[in-house]
Amino acid sequence: MLQSGNTILITGGASGIGLAFAERFLEAGNQVIVCGRRAEKLEEAKAKFPALHTRVCDVANEQDRLELCDWLVREFPNLNALINNAGIQQWVNVLRADDDWAHFHQEIAINFDAPIHLTLRLLPHLVKQPHGAIVNVSSGLALAPATWAPIYSATKAALHSFTQSLRLQLEGTNVDVIEILPPAVNTDLGGPGLHTFGAPLNEFVDGVFASLERGEIEIGYGDSERRLHASREELAEAAQQMWMGFRKRNPEF
Ligand SMILES: NC(=O)c1ccc[n+]([C@@H]2O[C@H](COP(=O)([O-])OP(=O)(O)OC[C@H]3O[C@@H](n4cnc5c(N)ncnc54)[C@H](OP(=O)(O)O)[C@@H]3O)[C@@H](O)[C@H]2O)c1
Repeated sequence: MLQSGNTILITGGASGIGLAFAERFLEAGNQVIVCGRRAEKLEEAKAKFPALHTRVCDVANEQDRLELCDWLVREFPNLNALINNAGIQQWVNVLRADDDWAHFHQEIAINFDAPIHLTLRLLPHLVKQPHGAIVNVSSGLALAPATWAPIYSATKAALHSFTQSLRLQLEGTNVDVIEILPPAVNTDLGGPGLHTFGAPLNEFVDGVFASLERGEIEIGYGDSERRLHASREELAEAAQQMWMGFRKRNPEF
């Protein structure tokens, strides 16, 4: 992926990891568009970084996705990079999950439907650009699941798999396919206060940008970097350890 001169859409770019990426890409001389559901978060981001372009969009909604893509291609004909970053995380006890499928499906629609649909919809435009990139933000939990977030972990494993296929199919085109697998990072993911134990946001983003500059295509950090090189046995052990630790901390789950 080029370091500067890109026109980039970052989904979920008004807060957390997406906003931190937006700031770095702006500093490096890129045009950046961010989208999200909450207009007030987008306005806050724009007040902090006036060069940002913003758009209210619920990426879980198919019509919103179609309108977003039409708007992007019309207003930003040089758009050459898509960063699929928007995501939510829900804790789900499968023995106590009621039958509110819309609630559970929301996590799948945001974390998995959206990146695939946006990719397929924007690819015909991206392949026409001199250089293009698709960056999928999955998770270290794609490699070893967080048992208390089973749907989340499954969406990230699915996104990891999709990204591998996408990379092979796009070999020989001008579109780079990059996956970022964050470890726990201190953001509002899952609700304020749930990820305070994670890596400091700025340190994580520094690490990711150093990896991007080196041209890496599967980017982990800390725990998730180690998991990228772990054996199946080590990954199974990591999932077991995380689950035991979670149950100790959350006996009421
Ligand atoms: N933080 C971690 O520990 C961690 C670890 C591994 C992977 N990740 C991944 O990193 C990505 C960013 O997460 P984060 O930690 O920065 O969380 P965050 O602080 O909660 O940010 C998520 C962003 O996504 C947006 N978003 C959520 N649902 C959306 C929807 N339906 N349509 C459009 N935008 C939506 C949110 O804005 P609105 O609510 O206004 O829509 C928010 O700006 C996610 O994919 C997450 O799974 C995070």
